[in-house]
Amino acid sequence: MESIQAIKGMNDILPDQIQWWQLVERTARTILENFGYREIRTPILEKTELFSRSIGENTDIVEKEMYTFADRKGEWLTLRPEATASIVRAFIQHNLQADPLARKFYAMGPMFRYERPQKGRYRQFYQLDAEVFGVEDPMLDAELMNMLRVFLEQLGLSGVVLHINSLGCPECRTPYRSVLQKFLVENAADFCPDCQRRLHVNPLRVFDCKVERCQKIIENAPMLLDSICEDCRDHFEAVRSYLERLQTKYEINPRMVRGLDYYMRTTFEIITDRLGAQNAVGGGGRYDGLVRDLGGPDLPGIGFAIGMERLILLLQQQRTEPKRSPSMFIALLGDRAKQEGFLIAQQLRSIGIETELDYAKHSLKSQMRRADKLTARYVLILGDDEILAGVAQFRDMESKSQSTIPLDRVVPMIKNTIENNAETAAND
Ligand code: HAM
Repeated sequence: MESIQAIKGMNDILPDQIQWWQLVERTARTILENFGYREIRTPILEKTELFSRSIGENTDIVEKEMYTFADRKGEWLTLRPEATASIVRAFIQHNLQADPLARKFYAMGPMFRYERPQKGRYRQFYQLDAEVFGVEDPMLDAELMNMLRVFLEQLGLSGVVLHINSLGCPECRTPYRSVLQKFLVENAADFCPDCQRRLHVNPLRVFDCKVERCQKIIENAPMLLDSICEDCRDHFEAVRSYLERLQTKYEINPRMVRGLDYYMRTTFEIITDRLGAQNAVGGGGRYDGLVRDLGGPDLPGIGFAIGMERLILLLQQQRTEPKRSPSMFIALLGDRAKQEGFLIAQQLRSIGIETELDYAKHSLKSQMRRADKLTARYVLILGDDEILAGVAQFRDMESKSQSTIPLDRVVPMIKNTIENNAETAAND
């Protein structure tokens, strides 16, 4: 019978890759919690309207990329293409502004966009997402970007650049929109059909177009950054000076508009040249009107999301595999040894020592090979003869030394050895 395959663009993450994911997740939790963020988990499925109202009707995500369907009662639902809208919804729904602690959130989980799959671009992908509500101060914008830098540095990632821009506020964007539209209309004939439509409904989105001839025309377009109002300029300058104080390097990219409509003022992306066409590892920005527009209090907001697959692809190019090895492997030779070893394994695990054992009566040679492959630090060898003599062989795979230890002292002796060696390693 023909076997069933996963959906195109949706990947299994297999155990031989999982250590990368766990490394990223562990590091993210440590750093974000250090900066005061608390985890939030929202449903993967939301009402379609949540995304069309926040991300914007005339964006690629809402127009072309959402997995949207009617449920059995005919209600329109969408698999979340991003996390911001859901977190804003939860924030409003649960009245979280009343809780002085619950204003910084992070989330990790799968997002869904119907894009053409290629390296670094999938239909189900994971994001690490962070959001903060209620702070207008540009200090936070810089802190957020600095936190991203700390996170990436902690993982050992290099060769990425922080791009920043300001998208102004409704007051300065509205007049700019007309100026931009005028420029676009003058060049309309040369744009791709998508942009010809965009320039009427949502001119800023023309900057997102990947078509080369559109990119070329846009190079000469007036820049929003040149016409932002005084308040937005002050905010932007303050963000820059805070970044400089934190020695967080950045480049100003006035052409970066981000693909979602909710942004205003500060926007940023983490850019790489090592992932082919997929050059953004992460991005984010301010969305001061969004909480209000989704029916909540008039509170500012800012956040970012990192694409976890892209981050991991980059890490794999740059650093050694984060290995996770059991401390102990128990090699078993004979039926009595099997009975005894089975119990010892449970006892070791119950005191927190990661232990693996042979279940299938392999030869000693093949069991040692397996221990080697698992990169177990120690091997306990139990044979029927040894059991009769009340002893076991304990082998340190690093120093290659082997000793005979009494069977009734196996667990405390192993515990001691592991603890002592860990201490020595820590002091080295
Ligand atoms: P975004 O720029 O649409 O922003 O996505 C953030 C990151 O998710 C991208 O930089 C990329 O690394 C990753 N990503 C996006 N689409 C795909 C895909 N099809 N396959 C693999 N990775 C992908 C947002 O989603 C905003 N919600 C970020 C934000 C949070 N802004 C404020 N708060």
